[in-house]
Amino acid sequence: MFEHVKAFPGDPILSLNEDFHDDPRDNKVNLSIGIYFDAYGNLPVMAAVRDAEYALAGEIEPRPYLPMAGLPDYRDAVHQLVFGNACSAHTKQRIATLQTLGGSGALKVGADFLRRTLPDAQVWISDPSWENHRVVFERAGFIVNTYPYYDSATGGVRFAAMLDALRVISHRHIVLLHACCHNPTGVDLDRNQWREVISLIEKKELLPFVDMAYQGFGMDLEDDAFAVRELTARGISCLVANSFSKNFALYGERCGGLSVVCQSDEEATRVLGQLTGAVRSNYSNPPTYGAKVVHRVLCTPALQESWKSELASMCRRITVMRHAIYERLQGRIPDAILSRYIQQRGMFTYTGLSAEQVDRLRTEHGVYLVRSGRMCIAGLNEQNIHVVANAIASV
Ligand code: LMR
Repeated sequence: MFEHVKAFPGDPILSLNEDFHDDPRDNKVNLSIGIYFDAYGNLPVMAAVRDAEYALAGEIEPRPYLPMAGLPDYRDAVHQLVFGNACSAHTKQRIATLQTLGGSGALKVGADFLRRTLPDAQVWISDPSWENHRVVFERAGFIVNTYPYYDSATGGVRFAAMLDALRVISHRHIVLLHACCHNPTGVDLDRNQWREVISLIEKKELLPFVDMAYQGFGMDLEDDAFAVRELTARGISCLVANSFSKNFALYGERCGGLSVVCQSDEEATRVLGQLTGAVRSNYSNPPTYGAKVVHRVLCTPALQESWKSELASMCRRITVMRHAIYERLQGRIPDAILSRYIQQRGMFTYTGLSAEQVDRLRTEHGVYLVRSGRMCIAGLNEQNIHVVANAIASV
């Protein structure tokens, strides 16, 4: 039956992370996967999450299946965080939000829904984009194309080329956008650029699918959602995938959300129905625990405050590490490339290192980056930064 099955070539991020864990070297450094590690190199349990878990431990309840769309209170909390306080009750009714298995689950459910809804559409992702974007949409049956994004000469955005490409995409095609902390480059659009892109999307009747996996790691929770809120305020139909893996450090709980902004509450009801159909055919309904933790934090004012302040301090530590690696590499690599460490934002920097240099970092120095040259700055700390700087300088 399975003689013809080919070997899985591995995933460029997750398989590398597994290789890291199997690497016996003591001084190895994991800058591959998009995970936040604290100043001591540990994966944190956020204080608000821990407190919510203690509280929930005293409230053990039966665990029926959740509704296909997920825990209703959690869905409300997702909505609030993604669309903000300014979103009126009227607008809220136009948005179908459901609980998903992390941000990837949101992309998959959204992709399945769109494939049935807009069968002639193609998908356009940035060049480059998160490796899994192409895979998710291709496996859902889409043709996936790219639009220009990263300028390797300047370390910024090829904005004019991006607009030119968007201008010639046929209407009702799907454009995948990164709300903040662009993965893998760490290069985001500024507000004026977002406004221009959104106007073009509106004019050309494109369908934006916004991936917001890193809300809170760019500027802050509100600023990072600017594109989503601008699209919604302008009444543009769109999809938004969000995740609590990073900003709650709840990677293994698979907590996320998918929101579809529609033109009326009646349309949103029909869309939500089709989304739950996509959930049913994938995994029936989502799990309970992580959603309860996230909801408890977001609906308890003291916990929410604590969560926001810890998230802000995680974000600040990343900025400190950006400057620290910048200083350690000064005079050792060309300035034009060096400046990217402090210009780019979020967890990632596109270092400009080639795949061969990345391979040497791993084999000769035990320093793991993704082969695209993407470095997760959140894996740096005062203990490992000299190893990393020396390794980079030497390759
Ligand atoms: C990453 O980009 O490293 C993370 O989003 C983890 C993943 O699933 O790829």
